[in-house]
Amino acid sequence: MKVFVTGCTGYIGSHTCVELLEAGYEVAGLDNFSNSKKSVLDRIKEITNKEIKFYEGDMLDKNILEKIFSENKIDIVIDFAAYKSVGDSVQKPVEYYINNVSSVLTLLSVMQKYNVKKLLFSSSATVYGTPEVMPITEEAKVGGTTNPYGTSKLYVEGILKDLAYADKDFKICVFRYFNPVGAHPSYLIGEDPLGVPANLMPYICKVATKELPYLNVFGNDYNTLDGTGVRDYIHVVDLAKAHINGIEKLNNTDKNLHIYNLGTGKGYSVLEMVKTFEKVNNIKIDYRIVERREGDVDECYADSSLAEKELNWYATLGLEDMCRDAYNFSLKKY
Ligand code: NAD
Ligand code: UD1
Repeated sequence: MKVFVTGCTGYIGSHTCVELLEAGYEVAGLDNFSNSKKSVLDRIKEITNKEIKFYEGDMLDKNILEKIFSENKIDIVIDFAAYKSVGDSVQKPVEYYINNVSSVLTLLSVMQKYNVKKLLFSSSATVYGTPEVMPITEEAKVGGTTNPYGTSKLYVEGILKDLAYADKDFKICVFRYFNPVGAHPSYLIGEDPLGVPANLMPYICKVATKELPYLNVFGNDYNTLDGTGVRDYIHVVDLAKAHINGIEKLNNTDKNLHIYNLGTGKGYSVLEMVKTFEKVNNIKIDYRIVERREGDVDECYADSSLAEKELNWYATLGLEDMCRDAYNFSLKKY
């Protein structure tokens, strides 16, 4: 069975390619390296001893997609290619909507042409906007997104819903990821953001490696146990493995559209994260409490029981694994 993975050298894409290759799938991949490095391909090969059939190019380019679908007998597509910086998306909404929404339409039109009708799509917990009830189930209201990145995911979910309704042969699985962190235990692949990280775990890693002096903790007056924001951090390897279960689901379902939260179901505060990181890695993380970050919510964690029930998937790695693996990967400079 051959899987086409867009954004295959990115953070979640690369970990998923490793799991796919190790599970015996053939993989064709596309990336334009707008947020990843070519050397990831060598490192995937080093981990698995197997190769991706790789194409360098842009998902907005119909010609490269046509080439991939005509040269490979693709059974299923996993779409990771997107821009993902919330702050950037506020500055460059048009670029974000083109890259995150138009590219999916290009992909879907080529899939239709080549009669490939199985798709796993990477969405985000951000589609829940400001969640009203914790933990968040898939039934919770979506919308009220506060930035173009979040809205782009919401738009694509709407497009996929319409397609699933219109074409009963199309089988679609939407994954709403919570907060993916950590790295592969080989420490050959992991999260490698450009510039100053916007997200918590990569920022802590840069403080640990002394590339940044201290962590800014965005507010300690939230309605949480210690006042700092609570999130559902999930190890990227657990997340990657869910895609194998997603493929099995799409191969054995009559339903056109499945939507699953992917999280651990447990929330941890910023300070709990800092303390665990310090303990596991035996390193001091300096921090200062600063103003709240605009748009942040008190807490956000998943009810992942639907994925457990229907995909037979649940997270097995804990916060200590996440902190250890993220730090060890950040010590490697690729
Ligand atoms: P990433 O930036 O590491 O990976 C995305 C990859 O896609 C990169 O390698 C980039 O070069 C590539 N890409 C982007 N636009 C492209 C295009 N037009 N054509 C070809 N390649 C393109 O991001 P990630 O963390 O691996 O995220 C993967 C997906 O999961 C994204 O859709 C993201 O929105 C979604 N997601 C991520 C998170 C997270 O915290 N990492 C959370 C929720 C959802
Ligand atoms: C962010 C994105 C969200 C995306 C999610 C996926 C923003 C505003 N939201 O969510 O769209 O779906 O990642 O992973 O970027 N924090 C600090 N100091 C920092 C960084 C973060 O205190 O330097 C705090 C935040 O206030 C929050 C927690 O750490 O309470 C987690 O933040 P972050 O890692 O940015 O993730 P989210 O905000 O949950």
